[in-house]
Amino acid sequence: MATKVGVLGSGKVGEVLANGFLKHGYEVMRGSRDPAKLAAWKSGAGASASTGTMADTARFGEIVVLAVKGTAAEDAVRQAGPASLAGKVVIDATNPIADAPPTNGVLHYFTTLEQSLMERLQRLAPDARFVKAFNSVGNAFMVNPDFAGIKPTMFICGNDANAKARVQDVLEKFGWEWQDIGGVEGARAIEPLCILWCAPGFNGGQWNHAYKVLRK
Ligand SMILES: NC(=O)c1ccc[n+]([C@@H]2O[C@H](COP(=O)([O-])OP(=O)(O)OC[C@H]3O[C@@H](n4cnc5c(N)ncnc54)[C@H](OP(=O)(O)O)[C@@H]3O)[C@@H](O)[C@H]2O)c1
Repeated sequence: MATKVGVLGSGKVGEVLANGFLKHGYEVMRGSRDPAKLAAWKSGAGASASTGTMADTARFGEIVVLAVKGTAAEDAVRQAGPASLAGKVVIDATNPIADAPPTNGVLHYFTTLEQSLMERLQRLAPDARFVKAFNSVGNAFMVNPDFAGIKPTMFICGNDANAKARVQDVLEKFGWEWQDIGGVEGARAIEPLCILWCAPGFNGGQWNHAYKVLRK
């Protein structure tokens, strides 16, 4: 039986990750407040793809992916339903990007270095097993990126070791190595990596990079 993945997100990240899970043999439901907007994706995505509301999608997934606008992430978790997320691995790809435009290419966040968005989400759905992942790279490189044979590094964190092991299995399939930053507080360090990732894009049009940790 294929593992069921519920992807909360009708944007580009939701699409890329949903397609990545389908490619690797998972069954996928994508969720939106307005599932009709995903009809074209569903009709092209094959028999293992379906769509639903945020609540349908949270109920469906054994693994749930949160890929919504950062300012709406808490609302999306409420709409998905903390009870439906209880016990599930929730891959959190969101970034707490504020609505203000970047300053000289540096994004503004509505969170602080003392409290990340994922900590707020974890508080909202205390029994969900949140794992931060996929937030610090552009969607073009999330699934089996080609960096001339070099595996990029995904930074992950979360309170539950078994949940992180499930996400590591996904990352392996998606062509990534990982660096575990620890518990949910690790998101205070991982979420700002998006600011760093985006600055060369805003300032010089470079959007074609990924992080790699060198070890010896
Ligand atoms: N774009 C990238 O390459 C990239 C890379 C890494 C991480 N990220 C992060 O991934 C997340 C998704 O990014 P994206 O570019 O795919 O899309 P996005 O435009 O940031 O988000 C679109 C999603 O947000 C949802 N949304 C908006 N307002 C909402 C509300 N009030 N309540 C519930 N849901 C709401 C939309 O739901 P409906 O379908 O209901 O409208 C839609 O699913 C963001 O947090 C972003 O920072 C993006």
